[in-house]
Amino acid sequence: MSRYVLGVTGASGAIYALRTAMHLKRLGHEVSLVVTAPGREVVEYEGQNALFGFADKTFDVDDFFAECASGSADYAGMAVVPCSMGTLGRIASGTSDNLLVRSADVCLKERRPLVIVPREMPYNLIHLENMERVTRAGAIVIPASPQFYSKPATVEELVDTVVAKILKHLGAGSAADCAGIVKPWEGNVAAGNQ
Ligand SMILES: Cc1cc2nc3c(=O)[nH]c(=O)nc-3n(C[C@H](O)[C@H](O)[C@H](O)COP(=O)(O)O)c2cc1C
Repeated sequence: MSRYVLGVTGASGAIYALRTAMHLKRLGHEVSLVVTAPGREVVEYEGQNALFGFADKTFDVDDFFAECASGSADYAGMAVVPCSMGTLGRIASGTSDNLLVRSADVCLKERRPLVIVPREMPYNLIHLENMERVTRAGAIVIPASPQFYSKPATVEELVDTVVAKILKHLGAGSAADCAGIVKPWEGNVAAGNQ
């Protein structure tokens, strides 16, 4: 069992946060939730309030006394799901001006996995440069770009194609755990794996 920070911002796609929290809990991990003010509004607007039920701890975004603000606290990593372009820019610039951005900064300095799931379309050059910057600093950018080749039948299954990647890169699930969420590609079985 490990502890993870789950940062949630005001980008669309609160269901990605909910499914990430749900699977982290299902895999036996502890979830510390940090949600920005726009994040709270979008979670509510998109009807994903059940997210809060999966948190072991929920910290105020202005609470710099929270454990995850310090590198000495025993966290295994952090995911920012979904990540707005505003928060992406703040992480890329190292502003540390709220608990979510500070916690991300801590992960980078401690060389812990920081998974950033940006959500915007189209991207402008500033967004792309910020993604490059956080990648250079050690973050893993996993865009909210679900795949269809596993033939997801529901929105939840589609969302989980992204969530399985998040869990894998956080180190929160074994290959078997992630395969239980989304079946790995085994070649084109229908065509006899040609
Ligand atoms: C319904 C709704 C959807 C939004 N979707 C996005 C989005 O997908 N990506 C994005 O960068 N901003 C989006 N925004 C704008 C952000 O919420 C806004 O830039 C906010 O300042 C982000 O603040 P935060 O990074 O502190 O959460 C959306 C806003 C609303 C109200």
